Amino acid sequence: MAKTKSVYACTACGYESPRWVGRCPGCGAWNTLEESVTAVPEKGAAKLAANQRPGTGAAPLLLEEIPEDTALRTPTGISELDRVLGGGIVEGGLMLIGGDPGIGKSTLLLQVCANLAGQGKRILYISGEESARQIKLRARRLDIGVPGLYVLAENALDAVETRLRDLQPDVAVVDSIQTMYRPEMASAPGSVSQIRESTSLLMRICKETGTSMFVVGHVTKDGAIAGPRMLEHMVDVVLYFEGDRQQDYRLLRAVKNRFGSVNELGVFRMTGKGMQIVPNPSEELLSHRAKGASGSTVFCGLEGSRPLLCDVQALAAQSFLNSPRRTVNGADAGRIAMLLAVLEKRAGQRTYNQDVYINVAGGLELSEPAADLALCVAVASSLKDQPVGSEVAVMGEVGLTGEIRTVPQCDRRVAECARLGFTTLVVPRENARRLSNPPEGVRILGVDTLLQALSVLF
Ligand code: TYD
Ligand code: MG
Repeated sequence: MAKTKSVYACTACGYESPRWVGRCPGCGAWNTLEESVTAVPEKGAAKLAANQRPGTGAAPLLLEEIPEDTALRTPTGISELDRVLGGGIVEGGLMLIGGDPGIGKSTLLLQVCANLAGQGKRILYISGEESARQIKLRARRLDIGVPGLYVLAENALDAVETRLRDLQPDVAVVDSIQTMYRPEMASAPGSVSQIRESTSLLMRICKETGTSMFVVGHVTKDGAIAGPRMLEHMVDVVLYFEGDRQQDYRLLRAVKNRFGSVNELGVFRMTGKGMQIVPNPSEELLSHRAKGASGSTVFCGLEGSRPLLCDVQALAAQSFLNSPRRTVNGADAGRIAMLLAVLEKRAGQRTYNQDVYINVAGGLELSEPAADLALCVAVASSLKDQPVGSEVAVMGEVGLTGEIRTVPQCDRRVAECARLGFTTLVVPRENARRLSNPPEGVRILGVDTLLQALSVLF
């Protein structure tokens, strides 16, 4: 019987402590230490094991002598996913995909598998959550019937390893990392040490066999992938699936990508036939916009390299409360408080006796300061009860003195606005001056201050 020892590992940062403490000494988080029991190898065995692991035996190479393999990226055939991955799946890459339960991770991955199998690849879909029959049912629902797609319902990692090495698939899916376990580790599936061990084993298999792998990760209630933070450092790509369960849009975002740029956004819609790509999200996001209503402005945001138009809405209504209500959906509440103060002080828009509600339509989250001007204009439009023209789009950062500051990548935003038929664009003066080739038929109004912006619009 091998000896065991208990260690307490932090679920947030992976810090290990020999005894339980309430606050992690590593990251300062409260109540994140979890017990995990590991087998202690016997002394002789440890020495032997060390001798048997001499590394890969690789010698250092000169950078210029390393062969380049540029063709190793395989497009999945799902354009929105390829955009987020930076062109496709990289051979031997380990990709972690996180998101709330029911958001559509398994659905999307099964569709990806089917697409790749359709291209003649050998695919293995491993599920520790669903039985093979359940997967079959889902596949039937998605109208998937392709050869070359293997399904395995298994959660013992050693068995998974054997299958992976036998079958040598081009692409494999592991759904989910929290259900995989190694029986020789005494801690429960989903615990820090199990997840860490499982991930490093899968990583090793990927690098050794060249199999590319998608791994599903559950998220905790504050939205991070459950397990040690280190998990995200180990893998090559981390994708997050977001979106309201009520709304059928799903946003796929890369937060880490060793093979491409991050913050790229893919837009999907959950339908009765699985995930469908939304090829033209700006159009889609504006499709329900009420024309001629006050309190609505169009803003062109930037998600990674993708310009995205959205409807920024505000409602100001007389308040009967001592401290008027401010309710913000899709923007930062602190930023809104600042913008209301600037509106009041620098542009004479009184909101001290108004309840103000802010909403960004489509479930989008505006984090860029470039959205400031659009938010201010929406509030002013509601206060005055005057609609902003339906051909107008607005962008700019608002400073504390009411000055309008430049926004990054204005050309891209202007082009997207023009593409969707917006003919009057209010932009920071400096951006207007620098604009290389403004699209034809579009009036660009450069403004210096908030007051000026409001006076050209109303
Ligand atoms: P699922 O992919 O199982 O989510 P996850 O793996 O992220 O937990 O998605 C399940 C939800 O999606 C479920 O509520 C049913 C819904 N769904 C559809 O709307 N259409 C479909 O074609 C499928 C397969 C699922
Ligand atoms: Mg699932």
